[in-house]
Amino acid sequence: MAKFPAEFLWGAAIAANQAEGAWDVAGKGLSQDDVVPYGGDARGKALQTIRSRAQIDALLADQNLVFPKRSGIDFYHTYGEDLALLSEGGCNAIRTSIAWTRLFPTGMEAEPNPEGVEYYRNLFGRMRELGIEPVVTISHYEMPLTLITEHGGWANREVLEAFLRFAYLVLDEYRDQVKYWLVFNQISSALMDPFLALGLLTEDLDQPEAAIYQAIHHQLVANAAVVRYGRQLDSSLHMGSMVLDQTAYPRTSRPEDVLAALQYNQQALFFSDVMVRGAYPSTILADLARRGIEIEWAPGDRETLAEGTIDYLAFSYYMSIVVGEGMSLLDANTWSMGEEFNNPYLKATEWGWQIDPVGLRYALNVYTDRYPGLPLLIAENGLGYRDQLVGETVEDDYRIEFHRDHLRAISDAMADGCSVIGYLPWSGIDIVSASTSEMSKRYGFIYVDLDDFGQGSGRRWPKKSFGWYRDVIRSQGENL
Ligand code: BG6
Repeated sequence: MAKFPAEFLWGAAIAANQAEGAWDVAGKGLSQDDVVPYGGDARGKALQTIRSRAQIDALLADQNLVFPKRSGIDFYHTYGEDLALLSEGGCNAIRTSIAWTRLFPTGMEAEPNPEGVEYYRNLFGRMRELGIEPVVTISHYEMPLTLITEHGGWANREVLEAFLRFAYLVLDEYRDQVKYWLVFNQISSALMDPFLALGLLTEDLDQPEAAIYQAIHHQLVANAAVVRYGRQLDSSLHMGSMVLDQTAYPRTSRPEDVLAALQYNQQALFFSDVMVRGAYPSTILADLARRGIEIEWAPGDRETLAEGTIDYLAFSYYMSIVVGEGMSLLDANTWSMGEEFNNPYLKATEWGWQIDPVGLRYALNVYTDRYPGLPLLIAENGLGYRDQLVGETVEDDYRIEFHRDHLRAISDAMADGCSVIGYLPWSGIDIVSASTSEMSKRYGFIYVDLDDFGQGSGRRWPKKSFGWYRDVIRSQGENL
């Protein structure tokens, strides 16, 4: 096993909306995550995405619901100890996000909330003290709720403008502390969860598909504008963005299935194509025209896209899928992939996410071929598992095996010629699940004693994987 490079970013990734809690502290506004309840015991099927204003009103009126992301793991208050523990575990980089609602509670304020600004200054300062490189996502599935309910989410150009006020301020404030930036989390997941990613209430819309693509266009323009702004501000900043990778293999070698998988991947890769190359690929323009979807371009959008191309591409990788004739990315708008996506050669987690380390090597090669020379960051990779705390630890050999196999795949991809700058497993420490709002879908190397209803001591316990990961980092991957 070749050693990983000395400057490799070894770390962990979390997000404000799933970790911080403190939903109503220090002037924070309500975000869409604060109205998503825990779905009870319908494991994996408890997809709590929201599709209408009426649904939000009903959720807010229901006194019996639990909203796990409101309390998260209380990282807002415990970040000092949590970061120290992650640092002890060897992490030299940690990815987290900034909650828009801490800085601009409704998104429309002219001036930011000073307490929110200070909180992140302290957080990044603590990382620096510990020798941890912050990798910061500006938008991770979190926006002021009123921008959704009163302004129509990302389909409305005003929301793009509000976001730029927030993002430019963030770059101005923290550029001395943060060098690695990701504008959007998993920008390509917009098709799977328009509420979480785009702030769209699809049942209230006449033409949801058109609104989804308009909103995506606004995010792509915002992405480029922020990258351009950061680059002009300080040329030492690494301005990147992120996609969700779900490599699609053809279900069979039947030419129709092979073509369907190619087209599925084209729909998914369109996001990185725009962010890396600065223009829409012709295949997507043709696909949109076929569907009768017309995107409204504002003057200057084309120039912005061309001028704001990213310095590095980050992606999350959890699974691969299979696709056959008649299947389109637009039909797969769910986090729990149905059986038609199953690969008979792979095992899956309890939530149906198929485990495929070879797929990670494959994905790295695809990006390298498509975007030669572009540095790649694995911004998320991990195993959701119903861990059991026994005594003072969790014997999570299954997680060790998962990360070991994926790290070996990365090493193989680097030997293939791919340029990988870091590995940030999801989630270092257990946090609330994005898709199901469960606490029991755990990913961390550190166990957090809280259940799906936010009950428990909140105590942190390093799992067996914690020591294993620390040793991997210490040996720069040589002991894999
Ligand atoms: C990605 C997201 O989808 O995967 C994270 O960027 C999320 O926010 C992670 O938590 C794992 O998904 P889940 O739904 O199992 O938490």
